[in-house]
Amino acid sequence: MNKKMNESSHLILHRTSKDELKKGVTVITRGEGVRVFDQDGKSYLDLNSGITRPVHVGHGRKELAQAAYDQMSTLAYFSPCGFSSEPAMNLADKMAEIAPAAINRFVFECDGSEAVETSMKIAKAYHQMRGDKGRFKVISREGAYHGVNGLGVRALGVVPMMRQIMEPLAPGGVFIKSPYCYRCPHNLTYPNCDVACARLLEERILFEGPDQISVFIGEAIQQGFGAYAPVKEYWDIIREICDKYGILMIIDEVITGFGRTGKMFATEHFNAKPDMITMAKGLTSGYLPLGGVGCTDAVQDSIEVLNHLHTYGNHPVSCQTAIKNIEIIETEKLVENSEKIGRYFLDGLESLTDHPSVGEVRGKGLWLAIDFTMDKKTRANYPGTSLNRMISLAMEKGALMKSMGCALEFAPPLILAKSDVDETIEILEEIISKEEKELGL
Ligand SMILES: Cc1ncc(COP(=O)(O)O)c(C=O)c1O
Repeated sequence: MNKKMNESSHLILHRTSKDELKKGVTVITRGEGVRVFDQDGKSYLDLNSGITRPVHVGHGRKELAQAAYDQMSTLAYFSPCGFSSEPAMNLADKMAEIAPAAINRFVFECDGSEAVETSMKIAKAYHQMRGDKGRFKVISREGAYHGVNGLGVRALGVVPMMRQIMEPLAPGGVFIKSPYCYRCPHNLTYPNCDVACARLLEERILFEGPDQISVFIGEAIQQGFGAYAPVKEYWDIIREICDKYGILMIIDEVITGFGRTGKMFATEHFNAKPDMITMAKGLTSGYLPLGGVGCTDAVQDSIEVLNHLHTYGNHPVSCQTAIKNIEIIETEKLVENSEKIGRYFLDGLESLTDHPSVGEVRGKGLWLAIDFTMDKKTRANYPGTSLNRMISLAMEKGALMKSMGCALEFAPPLILAKSDVDETIEILEEIISKEEKELGL
């Protein structure tokens, strides 16, 4: 095969325009370690772990294929309802060992969107079974991303066109502003702001009616704007407000779980105490579809029966693959590598801050970003066309990058080496300079 995909293909791609198809869409045919190869055999450094960021252990891991093969040959499938399987029970045990805070019970779904749906369903079941039947609203943040399904999509702020095409949505989606100090939505400055982005949750709750609100959901570190971590007090303040009004707090760890940010879960950076977490991506490193919800004993104990059934819930093959994947993450010390190489990567990004367009560089572990601006003083937004031109040029040079807001974002496999970082910084130096020339900066 050495043909790009075009409009004659019978396949429908996600979020890919007719125009892009006309130009021809790259077909990725193979992956090995931190690199993937296209239809012409050209190699790319994969700086976002398959673009949507799941491939924590790197491409081409035969151990994972073997784990899936062995489980398929033993028991490929059985119902998650009224029956159990060893891989699902073992994965839940393992998760209880590594999950943050008091998260102790788990159910597994097919992906992150389903995990978010299920967490909201669990929250409703929790409230209803305690006789609290009026809570149907979900509070999230305007810069959030929580997936593409019914309940999650109403909490999805950052890609308005993905939410708006599904409108009218189920009622109950409520938003507050996101933490984003570099371009604060409240025009305040930390610490004088007194963390208004968290404290204003209370005002929203009082406006909406405290007894109508089921959950607050937020990503531990947010993908909108590019890998944005809130200040250290943020999650404690949110927790306090949720407790005051009997609202459950869900931390979405779909991107950040399994070592992405230099801790097994990003919740640990804040010592946050969620009632539930959602996860996917790094759970199987993308080798098979799997998402999950973890909750505290207190949440699970209140639910007599979770009236919920997906054919592929608690799937034995996916669960066994996840167990092997977590074993690799642990034995190869990939969480530690994420922290160590992440620091080296961040140092490399710091070396670019003299560029007039580089507004802020940031990151935890191997989730990093460069937030660009047209004017360092005013922090004016940077054009999407410029980000796209830089991404195209990087691709020509053999590196796959992606944008988020005004930022270029990096979430490479956790096996990344220093030499890969050096190669990336060299490419960044070149593409940033070229784009600045184009913009006359
Ligand atoms: C924080 C977060 N939650 C949920 C999802 C949805 O996950 P999936 O794409 O696996 O359905 C994503 C996807 O990127 C995500 O980043």
